[in-house]
Amino acid sequence: MSPSGGLRWHWRAWRSQALWRDTRGQIADWLAQVQPHSDELLLIGASAGWMLPSPWLQRFRRIQVWDLDPLAKPLFAWRHGPALRAALTHWDYHCGDALKALPRLLENHPQACIFFDNVLGQLRFHAGAGPQAATQIEERLRVIKQQLGGREWGSVHDLLSGPGLRFRPGQVLPPARWRLLEPKASPESDAWLAPLGANGQWLDHLTGAVFAPGTPICDIAWPFEPAYWHWLQGGWVSPPRR
Ligand SMILES: C[S@@+](CC[C@H](N)C(=O)[O-])C[C@H]1O[C@@H](n2cnc3c(N)ncnc32)[C@H](O)[C@@H]1O
Repeated sequence: MSPSGGLRWHWRAWRSQALWRDTRGQIADWLAQVQPHSDELLLIGASAGWMLPSPWLQRFRRIQVWDLDPLAKPLFAWRHGPALRAALTHWDYHCGDALKALPRLLENHPQACIFFDNVLGQLRFHAGAGPQAATQIEERLRVIKQQLGGREWGSVHDLLSGPGLRFRPGQVLPPARWRLLEPKASPESDAWLAPLGANGQWLDHLTGAVFAPGTPICDIAWPFEPAYWHWLQGGWVSPPRR
């Protein structure tokens, strides 16, 4: 079973629907203003698309969906199939390592845009625990970015995660923060965590360099468990059109 997906992920996502509802809403609001030029999407790490809004997927003519998890295909069809069929959006679901296959996928789909759906922040759970692991993950992310050069792509991923205030469904989630990424994290950028009551040690998901400074990004709070938060960061990279 994948350390970041599989049955455990589906069970958690299913039973957390109320807890995650407002985070899903903020992701939907962010994606609603992401207007890719391409009508083909490579969707990587989609699982069942638990956090994805169907209306954003409906804008595409074709979607190539990828996940390591063999359980995810029917669940994706269950969650998004009716909306995609209604929009005449065709999708193919592939089970496999899309990050390894990325150069081939980019070559086979030269006009497609790419969306990494909460997968880049998971690489640290797929890597070993040795002292070189963090460096290897950062290098892997650097190579992925390089492979994407000149392409239209985006990602939503974990930046940090850790303990904080208890959150219950129905409480008000801190609003999403929209900004251009600064070259360096400042005390103000971390002040955003204050309403979450961040305490103890937070985990660095090693994704701090995924987006270049100046990228329009959206910070979103995610009560992953009632008193354990993830700081999600969404961003979209649109190279100048030729
Ligand atoms: C945290 S889950 C998010 C799932 C999905 N985005 C959602 O919201 O339901 C991360 C997913 O990435 C998938 N994944 C991890 N590494 C992958 C890879 N190299 N290629 C394809 N999928 C991958 C896992 O199997 C898992 O389903």
